[in-house]
Amino acid sequence: MGNVHFFLVLYTGLFALAAGRPYPMRRYSREVYDNGRIFDITHMIGPNLPVFGSKNGLGHDYIRLVESIKNGSIVNQSEMKLNTHTGTHIDSPGHVYDKYYDAGFNINSLDLEVLNGPALLVDVWRHGNITAEVMKSLNIPKGVRRVLFRTLNTERRLMFKKEFESSYVGFMVDGAKWLVENTDIKLVGVDYLSVAALVDLLPTHLVFLKSREIILVEGLKLDNINPGVYDLHCLPLRILRADGSPARCILIK
Ligand SMILES: *[C@@H]1O[C@H](CO)[C@@H](O)[C@H](O)[C@H]1NC(C)=O
Ligand SMILES: *[C@@H]1O[C@H](CO)[C@@H](O)[C@H](O)[C@H]1NC(C)=O
Ligand SMILES: *[C@@H]1O[C@H](CO)[C@@H](O)[C@H](O)[C@H]1NC(C)=O
Repeated sequence: MGNVHFFLVLYTGLFALAAGRPYPMRRYSREVYDNGRIFDITHMIGPNLPVFGSKNGLGHDYIRLVESIKNGSIVNQSEMKLNTHTGTHIDSPGHVYDKYYDAGFNINSLDLEVLNGPALLVDVWRHGNITAEVMKSLNIPKGVRRVLFRTLNTERRLMFKKEFESSYVGFMVDGAKWLVENTDIKLVGVDYLSVAALVDLLPTHLVFLKSREIILVEGLKLDNINPGVYDLHCLPLRILRADGSPARCILIK
């Protein structure tokens, strides 16, 4: 029921805004705040969000009201059920290493200093999948510790298509190795559901997460932002035993 209504209200809101009339405050969603200084680079969790490997997207069952004012409760209150790798999210070392999972290197163990600080947004969409050669050609200076890679995925608007697209671009294992061995990058951000190209899915994650020093941020929304240096703030939920978590990520100019 709710979702058709949701989009109708959103649409009406935008329309009213365009017409210079006040829009309904509720349910209005923004991409940019503070006159273009703050960018929300998080995809909205909603029924059309793509899910890794699925044709159907997230669907409607991720949230439901368990108490509602209409039904006589004093509050509206919902319950969520989400895969820990939903939408814009972060992987922990325990996601791909069982020994790290057992030792507690989960989402709680990630360094907030790495998740917050200056970050470089680079365009790599001309290059396709990110190989060692591509990494080398980007000439990312030593000392740069956080990089968001904007690829063909953004150009193709893949995160806005509910059907999973297996031809998305990501890191090839040699690209990941090159990054680990030749740069100071500790945060790798990408614009589809996995940092790794599908053909190199597990090996690439293993290379990135082995040292437990690199944090992977996946499913970022990077359209309509100029390449350059920003302050990145990315905060996963603090959940015991979670191998990953959806996160709210923003860039500040
Ligand atoms: C409200 O009550 C009706 C009738 O019992 C029920 O069908 C509906 O699912 C309830 N909705 C919520 C949000 O609790
Ligand atoms: C939730 O709360 C709002 C605000 O009080 C109310 O208008 C709305 O009807 C409620 N929704 C449901 C399903 O009860
Ligand atoms: C990237 O790799 C995937 C396989 O993981 C492949 O389907 C796709 O065509 C490649 N993209 C480009 C632009 O080379």
